[in-house]
Formats: sequence, structure tokens, C-alpha cells
Amino acid sequence: MAFEKWSPVVVLALAALFLAAGLIAREPAEVEPDDPPQEFDEQLARSYVEAGCWQCHSVSTVEARLSSAFGALATGVRPTGPDLAGVGARYHPDWHEAHFWKPDDVYAGSQMPAQRHLFVPGTPQKLNGLGQRVVAFLLTLKTPSRLTKPWPQGGHVAPEGDAERGAELFRRECAGCHGADGLGDGPAARFFDRTRKPPALARGELILQREGESRRDTIYGTITNGLPLTGMPSFGNRLSAQERSDLTDYVLKISGK
Ligand code: HEC
Ligand code: HEC
Repeated sequence: MAFEKWSPVVVLALAALFLAAGLIAREPAEVEPDDPPQEFDEQLARSYVEAGCWQCHSVSTVEARLSSAFGALATGVRPTGPDLAGVGARYHPDWHEAHFWKPDDVYAGSQMPAQRHLFVPGTPQKLNGLGQRVVAFLLTLKTPSRLTKPWPQGGHVAPEGDAERGAELFRRECAGCHGADGLGDGPAARFFDRTRKPPALARGELILQREGESRRDTIYGTITNGLPLTGMPSFGNRLSAQERSDLTDYVLKISGK
């Protein structure tokens, strides 16, 4: 076939076809275009593989890098746990330590087994080298996936709640850190030594008050969003709006505010 015989119409049609094929072939972006690019440290990523986290987790934002560096096995073949993209922007290292020691204390009803192989034998609060590198790896995971977007800050309005039901929820969801009676003495509290400890809510230790909001709405917003990079997790995905309101009223009641 002689190229000089191609009419401009055919050339244009071919060009349009290529363009369309390119658009169709492109994978849907896992990361929004305005998210910062995900850094990848192969040495730290190796610890995630050595520690066996890949057996239950995926990290969608670096999945391709994990599989090219360590092979397909490293990339969440049976992800029974959540995607870890974005955890580095949510939790303080002390939270990870407490979580590895006894997941259920910081995440009520957790299915994740304790990761005692990451500690100096028998010593809570002292991660071994592998454990420290795993935490360092998690802290690099700042780019959330579509599934792990943070809850928007501010502007939450708490529906009416019931402090009685809140009391029950508190003992189940919050006691591991804030203590069964809200005295800041839950079993996980000892792990928070490089950041603020879980406050003794029942002694009125409530310092947050967002501008232009009632205290009630601020507490509700704190329970919903968590306080990123501190020990306080987000419950927006774990508890219903009604449950978060019940908890809000219970916290207000025990704090005497
Ligand atoms: C046997 C499966 C299993 C293994 C192994 C495992 N996890 Fe998990 N992990 C889970 C499950 C299930 C959850 C969901 C919440 C829960 O039940 O605790 C979870 C939750 C988490 C969370 C909280 C995620 C979030 O969005 O709040 C982090 C962080 C985490 N795991 C890190 C790790 C790391 C790091 C390792 C390796 C040292 C690891 N996990 C090993 C099953 C596992
Ligand atoms: C993993 C530990 C942990 C769990 C679980 C946890 N918290 Fe917290 N919480 C903290 C820490 C640590 C802080 C302090 C954060 C900071 O200010 O640095 C905090 C702060 C708070 C505050 C803000 C206090 C202030 O100064 O105004 C409220 C309200 C609160 N938590 C309520 C709850 C409720 C209700 C639950 C259960 C649904 C809960 N927390 C579960 C660790 C936890």
C-alpha cells in the first residue's frame, strides 16, 4: 500500500481512531489528579513484605511498584484486610505500635492478629528493627485511594442522641484508649508516649472547640473524622450517625460540660 495515495480524510480518520483507542485503553485513575504523587522506598517496602502484611492487605497506590520489586505474591493476593493506601496520613506511629501489640484495644472487634513478632521479645512499647521499619513504611503511605479518602473536616451537625446507648458504645469502642470510665487509662494508653495521651474525658479534659460550632458539634466532628496523625481514629466509616450522636451525648455527660 502506497502511503502517498492516502487521502487526508483517511489520515484524519486514523488519527481519530488512535486517539479514541488511547482514551479507552487508559485505566481509570486510582488516585485523583490533585493528590500528591506517592513516594516509594524499596528498602522500607521490603519490611512490609518480610513482616507478612501482604498476606491480608493491599496498598493500591504502590501496588505496581510492590509487584515489580517483590513479585506478585507481595501484592495483596488474598486481601481480607483493608487497603492501606493513605494510612500514613491518618495514624500516629504510637497508634501503630498499640495496634500491633493488641489490635482489639485500638480497633474494637478487630480481626487482625497481634503482630508480636515485631516487638523485642515480651516487651510492649519496644518495636524491634523490623517493626520500626514497617511503621516507617506505613508513614510513607500518604496518598489515599478512592476507598480511603479522609472524611471532610468541620461542618458536622450532630443529630439528637441518647447518652444511655452512648455509654454502652463507649465501653465497646473507646475504652481501649480512654478507659472504661473515661479516665484515660485504657490498656492502649501506655503506648502513647510521643503524642498526646487519650484524654480523661470524664475529668473534663475536652480542649477542642472549633470556631463557630457548638461544643456538641465539635465532639461529633472529632468522633466522625478522628484527629489525623494523633492517636484519635476516625469512626465515620465504622459507626452510624446515630451511634456517633449517642457517643457525643455520653461524652458531654461524663465531662460535665
Ligand atoms: C491475618 C490477616 C492480617 C495480617 C497478617 C495483617 N493484618 Fe492488618 N488488618 C487486618 C484486618 C482484617 C484489618 C481490619 C480491621 C481489623 O479487623 O483490625 C486490619 C487493619 C489494619 C490497619 C488499619 C487500617 C485502617 O484503615 O484503619 C492497619 C494500619 C494494618 N492492618 C496494618 C497491618 C500491618 C502493617 C501488617 C503487617 C505487620 C498487618 N496489618 C498484618 C488483617 C491483617
Ligand atoms: C486508639 C486510641 C483511641 C480510641 C480508640 C479513641 N480515642 Fe478519642 N482520643 C485519643 C487520643 C490520643 C486523643 C487526643 C488527640 C490529640 O488531641 O492529640 C483523643 C481525643 C478525643 C476527643 C477530643 C478531646 C478534646 O481534647 O477535646 C474526643 C471527644 C474523643 N477522643 C472521643 C472518643 C470517643 C467517643 C471514642 C470512641 C468512639 C474515642 N475517642 C476512641 C485516642 C483514642
